Amino acid sequence: MKVFLIYGGKSAEHDVSILTAHSIVKEIYYEYYDVIPIYITRKGDWIQGETLYAPVEHSEFLRLAENAEASMATEEGNLSYGVKITPAAIQSEDAVIFPVLHGPNGEDGTVQGLFEVLDMPYVGCGVLASAAGMDKITSKQLFQQAGLPQVPYVPVFKFDWNNDQEKIFMRCEGSLIYPMYVKPANMGSSVGISKASNRDELIEAINKALLYDHRIVVEQGVEAREIEIAILGNSDVHTSVPGEIVKKIDFYDYEEKYINNAVDLQIPAELPEELVAKLQNYASKAFRIIDGTGLSRCDFFVTSNNEIYLNEVNTLPGFTKFSMYPLLWEYTGLKYSDLVEELIQLALKRHSEKINYVDVD
Ligand SMILES: Nc1ncnc2c1ncn2[C@@H]1O[C@H](COP(=O)(O)OP(=O)(O)O)[C@@H](O)[C@H]1O
Ligand SMILES: [Mg+2]
Repeated sequence: MKVFLIYGGKSAEHDVSILTAHSIVKEIYYEYYDVIPIYITRKGDWIQGETLYAPVEHSEFLRLAENAEASMATEEGNLSYGVKITPAAIQSEDAVIFPVLHGPNGEDGTVQGLFEVLDMPYVGCGVLASAAGMDKITSKQLFQQAGLPQVPYVPVFKFDWNNDQEKIFMRCEGSLIYPMYVKPANMGSSVGISKASNRDELIEAINKALLYDHRIVVEQGVEAREIEIAILGNSDVHTSVPGEIVKKIDFYDYEEKYINNAVDLQIPAELPEELVAKLQNYASKAFRIIDGTGLSRCDFFVTSNNEIYLNEVNTLPGFTKFSMYPLLWEYTGLKYSDLVEELIQLALKRHSEKINYVDVD
């Protein structure tokens, strides 16, 4: 069977995505799969590389330059080449798509919509779960409806901010206390997010977030540990032990998170048993309410007196060999290669179940 491994992309997490793709290329079971690398450039071009029947040594080999013929580098310093294709050209039988794209255009349901139109099985969440999980306003509203605990928040729309700033101040300062966190609704990897400790900073933070999206959210800031639970499954949802992001600094932005690596992962997180059970229960509820399939990572805040707040569900969590999501499963006894295999099987299962639904025409 063919696996179309789709990575790179136009988002801020382009380079992380290449590392993830390389982890998969190194660990996938080649006795079952031929791997076709599809590299999306920063500009958004789709470049198809040479089919892989074995791992490649360096992640940089997966960064493909456009050419008339595909060829994979074999020595460090050499370039790899691929052929530019249209996205729909990947349509084929006996194939599964493994997208490892983060952020807008990758985990927000847009590319998943393409896979649906192509009627091909793909790893991870579908259109609805991806879009709902990515949108911080929609997901909060769904979580609220499911009775999941969250920090208080105020959605702000650009139109209202431009019309009447006083009203927005009243809304925010009336229901939240400083510090607040201001976030674009649809972004990820901390892009456009800032912490505001007073009115002036709030204005600055709102203006900054509005550079990235016309819908933003202002949230109550909390002093808390950051705990994450991995989720795996379709209708049979499995949850992992909790992991903790141990921060060396207060708020880690994109640079700190991905470039300076200013975090340590503690697996399992030290937490009382009853609290872990609660977190796992909330995580699977959150996954179900957004209609999650395949995988997700559910992120929580836990305060010193053990109050829990659900922060977000990441439908395409970091997936390099050293990322929280695979490490949580590894601790639970599922090693990286088996996790990749399980995700492919879940994708095939979901696709075959979908075909069996009654056709209305
Ligand atoms: N309400 C909050 N209180 C305290 N810290 C927060 C809050 N919201 C976000 N943060 C900090 O900012 C980081 C990024 O915010 P998050 O909502 O997870 O955005 P992203 O989708 O970019 O990961 C969090 O991991 C946490 O460190
Ligand atoms: Mg986050």
